[in-house]
Amino acid sequence: MDAREMKIKAAAAALEHVENGMRLGIGTGSTAEEFVRLLAERVADGLSVVGVPTSERTARLCLELGVPLKSLDELPELDLTIDGADEVDGRLRLIKGGGGALLREKIVAAASSRMIVIADETKVVETLGAFKLPIEVNPFGMVATRIAIERVAARLGLSGAIEVRRSGDGNYMTDGGHYILDASFGRIPDADALAITLNAIPGVVEHGLFINMASIAIIAGPAGARTLTA
Ligand code: A5P
Repeated sequence: MDAREMKIKAAAAALEHVENGMRLGIGTGSTAEEFVRLLAERVADGLSVVGVPTSERTARLCLELGVPLKSLDELPELDLTIDGADEVDGRLRLIKGGGGALLREKIVAAASSRMIVIADETKVVETLGAFKLPIEVNPFGMVATRIAIERVAARLGLSGAIEVRRSGDGNYMTDGGHYILDASFGRIPDADALAITLNAIPGVVEHGLFINMASIAIIAGPAGARTLTA
């Protein structure tokens, strides 16, 4: 089974949790896109759901495939969000934001009664941090914000390069008009403490640590999909 087949398998298992009439948060990334494709088939067959997309990219795909959408302001309370992740640990803590949508993903997940993460086996880790942690920052004073992040990270015993994400000739810009700093901290022994600490830094808009948000992770491997619960 190749990587795409595993993503489809996880997405198909998540689709079993979707019921008629649900208000759905719809994630971003290649795994979430497989979910959108399968969801669109069910919608074409008569399933009635309304989605709130976590990015412009996801919104475009949903519109193209006929999945009905509303904004989060129109539908501020959601039943279920289904989204991918860059890393998942045994307590269902996540690193997200490899695709740059972490802010809207976190807002949408927080507005949902439940969040299901879909991923392939390669995303499961014992300790978060091998994947660079995305930190979304306001462009104003970005260098000062980066220095502040380095200082607080050092107090938690974390070091490593913190690089501005690039796209073409310029800095990558999120849907919200912010920049992303990718932090190569390596192993993050206390992700909960880091999450709280980053939230307190002026200029940090959001970070990619999702703590206590996912209730289920559906992990697909060559032998099939398994479910992890928090
Ligand atoms: C988007 O910002 C991310 O949080 C994605 O959910 C994450 O990067 C997983 O993407 P893939 O499914 O493409 O690996």
